[in-house]
Amino acid sequence: MGQLRMSALIDSYGRKHRDLRVSLTDRCSLRCTYCMPHDFSDWLKSEHLLNTDELMTVISAGVNEGIEEIRLTGGEPLLRNDIVEIVSRIASLPNAPKLSLTTNGLKLVELARPLADAGLERINVSLDTLQRDRFTALTHRDRIHDVFAGLAAAREAGLAPIKINSVLLKDINDDEAPALLAWAMSEGFSIRFIEQMPLDAGGIWDRSTMVTAGAVLASLSVDFDLTPVPDRGSSPAEEFYIDGTKQTVGIIASVSQPFCGACDRLRLTSDGQLRSCLFSLDEMDLRKVLRDPSLSSEEITQEISSRFHKSVAGKLPGHGINDPSFIQPRRPMSAIGG
Ligand code: 5AD
Ligand code: SF4
Repeated sequence: MGQLRMSALIDSYGRKHRDLRVSLTDRCSLRCTYCMPHDFSDWLKSEHLLNTDELMTVISAGVNEGIEEIRLTGGEPLLRNDIVEIVSRIASLPNAPKLSLTTNGLKLVELARPLADAGLERINVSLDTLQRDRFTALTHRDRIHDVFAGLAAAREAGLAPIKINSVLLKDINDDEAPALLAWAMSEGFSIRFIEQMPLDAGGIWDRSTMVTAGAVLASLSVDFDLTPVPDRGSSPAEEFYIDGTKQTVGIIASVSQPFCGACDRLRLTSDGQLRSCLFSLDEMDLRKVLRDPSLSSEEITQEISSRFHKSVAGKLPGHGINDPSFIQPRRPMSAIGG
């Protein structure tokens, strides 16, 4: 039975934390240039990754403390061979949280149906270009057709909504925003453009070449009539109605217009570290608690819950990317979870 919910995860700035993003692995089948170098090899040790039961202990504790939404990410979460079991166990929790998954789409052809059957409803697929040669240059893998096939399989399996995440890079795909939006509309997908953040393993991020939300908006506005949707809530995306219809497009201005004031997110890395921000420089070690042989399972759950509160209590007001003293976190996005 679900325990009585004792408290909410409210930080010292009054922000209530409802959303836990869980990275299931730092490994990936692509090598997006803004995420990791093509010859990246600094992977987490596999014995450090949380196993299915450990993940469920953390997720259940989080849900008891007030988490209402779980997003599974990576790296590439579909590389975990227990992915269907993880989805099914989360979907059957008492007070089951809203569940979503962010994937590069390559394995959806085989997994969309089992995931939907296990209780997954919605899905986010990363895709930055519609052109095969650009995809290959951007990801170092010639696999755009697997993404298209995966998207078709996701639709076939009834996953909805299907959301596309796109990152635009100067002189590589920054002319493609209107084509991506037109394509997404014709396919019935929603799309969000995300500003590139300083979270890559190779340290290539450069503010002067980042494609800003303003530039994306300007480029889309040539072809589309965009009207801001009021009441954004805690969503990182600013949404716009397209051409007077109810369809929307999102633009995530993480760097140029940070939305930290409304942040309701926490992150669990695949090696069991709880982070209060993508850009945190410190982490709460949950793996150590999970593997402490001197603790009973009740004590483990209690200590994990208390570390959720400690992590939230230490959360800073913002990511500070725009401060002169900003320090890029040691871990790349693939290890933290997007
Ligand atoms: N900046 C912005 N988005 C990024 N992603 C990965 N690395 C970065 C970055 N440095 C995106 C991926 C995916 C999501 C999980 O995060 O494209 O859509
Ligand atoms: Fe893989 Fe996502 Fe990183 Fe691309 S951005 S290499 S799909 S983890």
